[in-house]
Amino acid sequence: MASASKVFIAVIGAGGVGKCFLGQLHALAARRTTQSINLGYISSSKKAIYNNDYSPIPIDTAAQVLAQSSQSPPTIQQLAEYLAAAPDKVVLVDNTSSQDVADSYPLFLQKGISIVTPNKKAFSGSYSLWEDIFTSAEKSGAKVFHESSVGAGLPVISTLSDLIDTGDKVTKIEGVFSGTMSFLFNSFAPTQGAGGKWSVEVGKAKALGYTEPDPRDDLNGLDVARKLTILARIAGLPVESPTSFPVQSLIPKELESCTSGDEFLEKLPAFDEQMEETKKAAEAEGKVVRFVGSIDVASKSVKVGLEKFDRSHPIAALQGSDNIISFYTERYGSNPLIVQGAGAGGEVTAMGVTSDLLKVLRQI
Ligand SMILES: NC(=O)c1ccc[n+]([C@@H]2O[C@H](COP(=O)([O-])OP(=O)(O)OC[C@H]3O[C@@H](n4cnc5c(N)ncnc54)[C@H](OP(=O)(O)O)[C@@H]3O)[C@@H](O)[C@H]2O)c1
Repeated sequence: MASASKVFIAVIGAGGVGKCFLGQLHALAARRTTQSINLGYISSSKKAIYNNDYSPIPIDTAAQVLAQSSQSPPTIQQLAEYLAAAPDKVVLVDNTSSQDVADSYPLFLQKGISIVTPNKKAFSGSYSLWEDIFTSAEKSGAKVFHESSVGAGLPVISTLSDLIDTGDKVTKIEGVFSGTMSFLFNSFAPTQGAGGKWSVEVGKAKALGYTEPDPRDDLNGLDVARKLTILARIAGLPVESPTSFPVQSLIPKELESCTSGDEFLEKLPAFDEQMEETKKAAEAEGKVVRFVGSIDVASKSVKVGLEKFDRSHPIAALQGSDNIISFYTERYGSNPLIVQGAGAGGEVTAMGVTSDLLKVLRQI
């Protein structure tokens, strides 16, 4: 099948990832000689730019023009109708973390609009939404890719899909899926020993911008659970939701009701002893503690929480805020296929989105 000669790109979300994506899209459109890639729509939560005659928006200045725009975004239903009537093939790029946008993927896909996104919400929400998305895509022929929803730009989803599609049998997936948790444990329990107090390390991670504004949003384990839900489903396990398997929260029960992240950080030192005991117990066995997610495909078990690792284990030896994901398969035997590197950041996340877009461009 010949690729479409003209493609209409609609972008929702122009924050950290969205702005980097626009930079990469501008360079891609300039490089692409066989296909004309036009930006036709862009919005944030309160503003939008689009033209009733579908004329293109200059990509290089789109983010600045959007910030000055007085045009309000249409409703999702109106946007779907506008895009469905576009004269060219349409790819919708969702660079938000919005559940509402995620819930509307089936609507866009049914209208033949392809989707690429780093947004985890659609793929880690209810299992019925997951089924609806892929059934809608299959029926209309529209494409859907979400590489950056796990491990940012790291080739995690494509690697897992390739292993499965080529007939390998994935037995187990294990790894550190959160840059925040990686940074915290690499400094709280370094392989060479010592490390700071837990509350001090959490405060440091927040000051360096590694945590969400309220660190409890990282420490509750839900972000990691969402990523595990996505991988487990791709591996064939019909996981109902990210709360349908054991997820260990690192928020002390007593601090769940704190009204702000600052209050939480203020009270956290009183609970340092609990984490210190966990660290010492691992040290007594010559190990270090890490926050990991794992999927055992044969026993259909998925879990997220603290585990002990030998100091020489690749998970223990991780640096900085890197992610590491090990795929144990029949072909790879006891030495897993390992994907490792930065699991967050605007440019690397946008790279995953842009490479997904390239896959769609080749297929439509
Ligand atoms: N940053 C990373 O390192 C990273 C890594 C992996 C995956 N991701 C994923 O990438 C996505 C984007 O992350 P980010 O860091 O770029 O977030 P961000 O900086 O908060 O930007 C989000 C953008 O989406 C817009 N938005 C939110 N809700 C919207 C809605 N309902 N309709 C239209 N626009 C809406 C926001 O507009 P306003 O400014 O008007 O609110 C903003 O422009 C998220 O799903 C995130 O989980 C990010």
